[in-house]
Amino acid sequence: MGGPSREYFIKVGGDRQVPAKLGYTLLTALASEGIFLPTACGGRGACGLCRLKVLAGAGPVTETEVARLGDLIGAGYRLACQIHVDGDLVVDLPAGVLQAGSIKARLAAMEVLTADIRLFRFELEEPPSIGFTPGQYVRLFCPPYPGSPVPVTREYSIASDPAQPNILELIIRRAPGGICTRYCFEYLKIGQKVFMSRPEGQFRLSDTCAPAVFVAGGSGLAPLLAMLYQLANTHQRRPVTLFFGARTSSDLYLRERLSSFDRLIQGYRFVPVVAQVGQGEHWDGEIGLVTDAIQRAYKDLSGHEGYLCGPPGMIDAAIKVLTGLGMPTERIYYDKF
Ligand code: FES
Repeated sequence: MGGPSREYFIKVGGDRQVPAKLGYTLLTALASEGIFLPTACGGRGACGLCRLKVLAGAGPVTETEVARLGDLIGAGYRLACQIHVDGDLVVDLPAGVLQAGSIKARLAAMEVLTADIRLFRFELEEPPSIGFTPGQYVRLFCPPYPGSPVPVTREYSIASDPAQPNILELIIRRAPGGICTRYCFEYLKIGQKVFMSRPEGQFRLSDTCAPAVFVAGGSGLAPLLAMLYQLANTHQRRPVTLFFGARTSSDLYLRERLSSFDRLIQGYRFVPVVAQVGQGEHWDGEIGLVTDAIQRAYKDLSGHEGYLCGPPGMIDAAIKVLTGLGMPTERIYYDKF
């Protein structure tokens, strides 16, 4: 057995092999080398998306893998997030994973938005520019640091203007006990290099012109902000109302920017909503939950589409209200986190 820093190799196809540190999961060992397997659970063994064929070196199958993969195990499939590197491995990567590549970028600026939310602005280095569809996310690679001896990757929606292909902005909320968010908030410095996956995900604007209701909570504003840039850039005549909810007005960030879209998108309306108003505070937005504000604003949403991003509780409540107002479920698009 080797020491904790012992390195092995993973054969990933053809002549290519990449180094892998003892104890890393196969998922993070590959991500350390810019090879990002799909995941929707951050490596917790819940989504099954990181499956791949392992031809040698995987070790015993875990109960989690049996539960997620069933019969696929007999065909050689394993979950990359459940395999810990303990020797050389040979894998058969899913089609397209090697070709997808990754993004190297430099943290150019960081803006404090609220007590626990910040905007991180990255300038791309390799490739120097990239296209993305507003609504997509990237997986940011968090290297080992004093808060975590092993690397992790986490998904963050892109908040930036797609017309700036050399920039990616991420809005990140500090999660209690979050490994990657602690790294970003405490260790990541201006000028530092990071790498991340290419943009991924299916959350996006439909190609209809139906009026839309956007509902955002917390850092869930990010993909909807990118969609607003898209609508402004393409001069689409598509009425959009953005409901942005938070506990207090100090939790509602970028309000000026959000208001300014009324000059750029025909039929745009911004509705800030707070649960509480401070004593003596002047507040001319809505008070209550975003769902209360939606119910006050509409009687019939049967011709609208809904785009929701925020905490699961908010999304579930919003879906209930939107469908109650007649919005067909197949026209409600959402991204829970
Ligand atoms: S990353 Fe979700 S199961 Fe492995």
